[in-house]
Amino acid sequence: MGATLPGLLSALLLLLLPASLRVRDQLLLASHRREAEDGIGGGLHPIVLIPGLSCPDLEARLTDAYRPLKPGCSRVEGEGWFGLWTNRTWELDVERAECFVEQMRLVYDPVLGDFRNLPGVETRVPGFGSAAGTGSKIPTKPEFCLGELRSALERLGYRDGETLFGAPYDPRYAPPVPGQTSVFYSRYFRQVARLIEDASERNNGRPAIVLGHSFGGAVALEFVRNSPLQWRDSFIRHLITVAPTWSGGYVNPLMAFASGPAGLFFVPAAPQLAMRWMWRTLEIGVANLPSPAVFGRRPLVITRNRNYSAYDIADLLVAVGSADAVRPFRERELPKMEFFEAPMVPLTYISGVGIPTPEQMIYRDDFERQPEVVYGDGDDTINVASMLAFEEKVGMQPGQKERFKSIKFAGIRHSSLATDERALSVIMNEIVEANR
Ligand SMILES: *[C@@H]1O[C@H](CO)[C@@H](O)[C@H](O)[C@H]1NC(C)=O
Ligand SMILES: *[C@@H]1O[C@H](CO)[C@@H](O)[C@H](O)[C@H]1NC(C)=O
Repeated sequence: MGATLPGLLSALLLLLLPASLRVRDQLLLASHRREAEDGIGGGLHPIVLIPGLSCPDLEARLTDAYRPLKPGCSRVEGEGWFGLWTNRTWELDVERAECFVEQMRLVYDPVLGDFRNLPGVETRVPGFGSAAGTGSKIPTKPEFCLGELRSALERLGYRDGETLFGAPYDPRYAPPVPGQTSVFYSRYFRQVARLIEDASERNNGRPAIVLGHSFGGAVALEFVRNSPLQWRDSFIRHLITVAPTWSGGYVNPLMAFASGPAGLFFVPAAPQLAMRWMWRTLEIGVANLPSPAVFGRRPLVITRNRNYSAYDIADLLVAVGSADAVRPFRERELPKMEFFEAPMVPLTYISGVGIPTPEQMIYRDDFERQPEVVYGDGDDTINVASMLAFEEKVGMQPGQKERFKSIKFAGIRHSSLATDERALSVIMNEIVEANR
């Protein structure tokens, strides 16, 4: 390890130099870089990347049990698996977009206490294990989904399938906290654990670094919190959460629930009302709503007759016309909002601040019109109150605080935290440090 670290550091230095310097110093640093490359076989801790919500692909297969609302939706895809949510979904025409919103839906099964697909729709997440298996679904934002971080890791010597891995998930479900069951996540967590065990074994028993961005940061956090303590000690070297949408919640999801998930699922041909209808059936739709323990009694949604705080979310779900969501909200989401257990592994928590972030919504007439938004501090998505609560309630717990580091970037947006050069270099530095 000792011999490889200077090599890693010089490779990192090379990576961080401005482009002009890079060329000039390349010769100078070439020997150090070779040293880094030589060291790789013996050196790196494997890393697992978990990207944000709009990154994983989803495939579907329709069976005879499928009873579509739109008759056309049962035949167009033909037999077998097809891409339901992919980097081409944004191109769908109106007719296919209708099928997309229908087939993406989930139903809440009150007996199971869990969400599942519509009858006759089977789904799977392709590309598990590979860090290259996910890509941006928004054509104007190809840099989303940790692609830049992946390239930086590769320049450091990381290789997909050897030391570098990815763990895409089904973006419709939300990870449970310990004690809750989830059909999707119990299988997913087992897969991630096996991926890490194999990666560790292939790399001389070195424990893994797990890094998640945005919703992927929440998935990474819950994966660790759901693992047995002893397993974490053996297999997790470091957890890095970049702008995690953890269960302390934030105000934005209230707006998504009321008005539809504008930026998250980009399908221009699907009418906003149809997307909203779909969104309200998903577990992710009731996830990340603002927690009373974080937001207290401050009014988050203001209407003519009533103000709603984080304590009143169930009433708000009814008011916006989604009484069906109350039960899953109470049974699955509410218990998460009070769960502040620390992951008890070395943890770096990275966030952006100083960007106007929705803090309060004012609906003057009804919920059909876009609200007037009052902005506060945050990363444009997560409110600073939620970040501070994470630091205080999770990061500062005894046993965690000695190995907790919070890094805030002024002026870097939620999705740019994994692409901005400044943030990326600090993330890379944390990864090099974890390899020390
Ligand atoms: C879309 O995804 C496919 C398969 O995952 C990939 O080969 C292709 O390069 C991606 N296209 C774009 C524009 O990102
Ligand atoms: C709702 O909150 C606003 C802003 O805090 C306040 O001015 C208003 O009086 C409140 N309305 C009700 C009905 O409580």
